[in-house]
Amino acid sequence: MSLRDRVALITGGGRGIGRAIADRLAEVGCRIVIADVDQGGAEQAAAEVGVAHEVDALGVGANVADASSVKAMVGAAVEEFGALDILVNNAGITRDGLLLRMKEADWDQVLTVNLKGAFLSTQQAARPMSKGRWGRIVNIASIVGAMGNVGQANYVAAKAGLIGLTKTVAREYAARGITCNAVAPGFIDTAMTQALSDEIRAGLMAQIPMKRLGSPEDVAHAVAFLASEEAGYVTGQVLHTNGGMYM
Ligand SMILES: NC(=O)c1ccc[n+]([C@@H]2O[C@H](COP(=O)([O-])OP(=O)(O)OC[C@H]3O[C@@H](n4cnc5c(N)ncnc54)[C@H](O)[C@@H]3O)[C@@H](O)[C@H]2O)c1
Repeated sequence: MSLRDRVALITGGGRGIGRAIADRLAEVGCRIVIADVDQGGAEQAAAEVGVAHEVDALGVGANVADASSVKAMVGAAVEEFGALDILVNNAGITRDGLLLRMKEADWDQVLTVNLKGAFLSTQQAARPMSKGRWGRIVNIASIVGAMGNVGQANYVAAKAGLIGLTKTVAREYAARGITCNAVAPGFIDTAMTQALSDEIRAGLMAQIPMKRLGSPEDVAHAVAFLASEEAGYVTGQVLHTNGGMYM
């Protein structure tokens, strides 16, 4: 894949799926910016990715829920590398609970990080991408944004919203050479799912035709395809990466 020297920014890239995406994009030659609310995690991940793949990598502390922090995040990327070509909106959180008991603060927090965070980051990143008349935006949605899920009204609403945002950004920016797509992972083996009980994990496994949770690398490969030069005629799409759990 031809991505050599493209500048890629991954939000929430300090660990989990975001970290695997950073590794994969570095492997195909991108210069990497890892942004995470955990600044130490971002800096450490960037140092490791840079050494492992012999690319330039920058770690920045950033909260995607905060407009001024997002502006500074994109500013740091452009200042360091002179451009921004690829944005992966990966930062996300869960605050699960049944609808009746869900606290308003938990609704607001999940919508703010998972949906508004992608809006703010896209708005800032679209400027340097427009200048270069080339860009790739990949939003990390979720299988539950298509299926719904008990106990996740806030998270599901945010992920379904992210799919709507993806399609609108795709339409608004198509003429400028910028594509916008979503990857919708199924259940992936990260800290987020390790928090689930054994019973829930067994129940999930029964619904996955491939009989395994996905790996962060499974998601990273899908993202790298959508970020590639070769995916230039693909926009506004949702690439489900879920072992067949949802078709
Ligand atoms: N793990 C799964 O099964 C699964 C399935 C579908 C979708 N996803 C999505 O994939 C993405 C990554 O999930 P993960 O499993 O790697 O989670 P994770 O909790 O392991 O990692 C999330 C990262 O995002 C960072 N982060 C959290 N809030 C932030 C903020 N406000 N600003 C910047 N960074 C922030 C965290 O510090 C962390 O490094 C999320 O959007 C999640 O919703 C995960």
